Amino acid sequence: MAILEILEYPDPRLREVARPVGEVTEEIRSLVESMAETMYDAPGVGLAATQVGISQRIFIIDIAGEDEPSDLKVFINPELFDADGVQVYKEGCLSFPGATEDIKRAERIKVRALDLQGTAFEFEADGLMAVALQHENDHLNGILMIDKLNAFQRRKMGRKLAKARSEDATTS
Ligand code: NI
Repeated sequence: MAILEILEYPDPRLREVARPVGEVTEEIRSLVESMAETMYDAPGVGLAATQVGISQRIFIIDIAGEDEPSDLKVFINPELFDADGVQVYKEGCLSFPGATEDIKRAERIKVRALDLQGTAFEFEADGLMAVALQHENDHLNGILMIDKLNAFQRRKMGRKLAKARSEDATTS
């Protein structure tokens, strides 16, 4: 296991469309372990392989609260379908440190994917889990939360990111 480097906007690798995983091998399982360690260390509720520079269709999500036991979910070659309803949630992203914005997404969605054993599974999600699924799935298609913002929100986020970068430069 290892903590991986998380790419930050505007790294061009975040814009790549990830390739499907051919077979769920030991190498994939080991990558997922490192992704989980990286996500918990950050900390974040989701991480896509694209964000650690691996262009393969894999993401992980754990929306358990701080006082709850961890509940890691792994999605390999995920497909989202049957989106329904609308919700607005204040999202953050490990590739946009320090920035959060209200983003409109489907309230409910279904997903089918492979697990770490290569077995197909399917379930329906709503609320935060549905947000996380849509956010992480976007990463696999090179789509970022900034693409979902209106012009006003985008300018605001640009200023926040510039501020976070200049603070980084002065503290490190
Ligand atoms: Ni993200």
